[in-house]
Amino acid sequence: MEIKNICCIGAGYVGGPTMAVMANKCPDLNFEVVDFNEERIKKWNSKDLSELPIYEPGLAEIIKDCRGKNLYFSSLVDEKIKNADMVFISVNTPTKTSGIGAGKASNLKWVEACARQVAENSKGHTIVVEKSTLPVRTAEAIMTILESSKNSNNSRSKQISFDVLSNPEFLSEGNAINDLNKPDRVLIGGENDQAVEALCKIYKRWVPEKKILKTNIWSSELAKLTANAFLAQRISSINSISALCEATGADIREVSRAIGSDSRIGAKFLDSGPGFGGSCFKKDILNLVYLAEYFGLPEVATFWNAVVKLNTWHQHRISKLIIKKLFGNLSSKKIAVLGFAFKSNTNDTRESASIQICKDLLDEGASLSIQDPKVSPEQIEIDLNLAMSSNQNKNLVNKNNSEGCWEYSSKIEDALLGADAVLILTEWKEYSNIDWLKMSDKMRRPGWVFDSRSIIEPKKVLKSGLNFWRVGDGVI
Ligand code: UDX
Ligand code: ADP
Repeated sequence: MEIKNICCIGAGYVGGPTMAVMANKCPDLNFEVVDFNEERIKKWNSKDLSELPIYEPGLAEIIKDCRGKNLYFSSLVDEKIKNADMVFISVNTPTKTSGIGAGKASNLKWVEACARQVAENSKGHTIVVEKSTLPVRTAEAIMTILESSKNSNNSRSKQISFDVLSNPEFLSEGNAINDLNKPDRVLIGGENDQAVEALCKIYKRWVPEKKILKTNIWSSELAKLTANAFLAQRISSINSISALCEATGADIREVSRAIGSDSRIGAKFLDSGPGFGGSCFKKDILNLVYLAEYFGLPEVATFWNAVVKLNTWHQHRISKLIIKKLFGNLSSKKIAVLGFAFKSNTNDTRESASIQICKDLLDEGASLSIQDPKVSPEQIEIDLNLAMSSNQNKNLVNKNNSEGCWEYSSKIEDALLGADAVLILTEWKEYSNIDWLKMSDKMRRPGWVFDSRSIIEPKKVLKSGLNFWRVGDGVI
């Protein structure tokens, strides 16, 4: 199984960076990234690298090196499948919003469409690789669709054959290029050793062999869901303890340090924050919950569902706390919201805690001035389902809003002007360097700083005369 031409369907947060790094590591192979979203493809091909559709540190440099050499982006999905020896499926699999499994199961319509496209267009032998996170046994459905295309009565159908592999992606956004360059492990699930070996051979060019784990296909699919569920569980666990810290006088940072130095627990993923976001955690846990219910394991379903419930509760907890500290009234008050992305170093806002928290504050009539170094106002408008205030940059608050409104600030300073409170929701580096002595003068008194990411030195804020709250701090 000689692999020369690789096609990736889906030029999103997973497909784009993954293929870019593979192309960079395998100059002798040809990579075609295809997407039916022409606007997105146009951005991937844009000369100005600041216009790439995804912000990811280090990505633009790789695109500059590889694009047009062995890495191409196009909308010619069928044509590129025809020439491919290996097809990665990297499309979106959001949670179903209606029908059986609504709110829990993944919507596989895009994955199914990909399988059909491969079935209709492939030539010779094609290895289909699942990259998107998928419910267990999706490979079976993909294989059934692919195999059914061999039953047609045309000459092509007699010459085609397939293998399906599961090769889940574990990259973490904002650190994707590092994660892809130096993965903790690469997981390949498959039944046919030759196909597994063909994919293994690609990774072996830069990943030590001992880090390439081979499993059966179902273990690989379930391992991906489980890894995300375990990570999310750690965050809900530490966030639940942060509430207890605030009630008892303990400090969550001290508690995290103390438990994290137990080598069985480990120090990573113990930062209490505003609640986890991102496209994977909630979706994957809900998938696990659905699977457990489907297989008659209600206790397992309840256990994992609690991780998501705690996360939602924690987000509302932060909004409620802000409302309480601001005398239970937010109308005619301006709150500077620093950070809208679900974490730093990405422009991704999917499931960001900022969305829920901002909606809660808007419901209370707040006027929000939102700043984020990478998220566009258009994206915020979509996420909040609310148009930006037409009073932009004039006088957001004096409109005497009974309903909430928001404006976009390109500078931190503008967001803070006349604000009653500052709320830090994403851990962007620039927010930890704010000169509070200088900035506090621009705010209305009594002013508050709410730090949901623990990135600010409390003394620096308190010195400026502002009030300060941070997550899990029972001492201040
Ligand atoms: C996650 C997994 O880490 C990755 O392996 C998988 O492939 C996709 O899902 P990602 O969603 O990019 O990656 O981000 P991650 O760094 O895991 O963070 C998820 C959320 O948890 C973010 O909102 C982040 O702010 C939050 N988080 C993370 C915390 O609140 N505290 C922590 O200690 C770590
Ligand atoms: P992820 O975070 O998993 O990468 P994204 O939503 O960022 O998810 O990207 C998935 C991409 O897949 C989108 O750009 C979407 O247009 C594309 N896509 C979905 N289905 C198909 C399909 N059948 N053919 C081509 N592209 C597709």
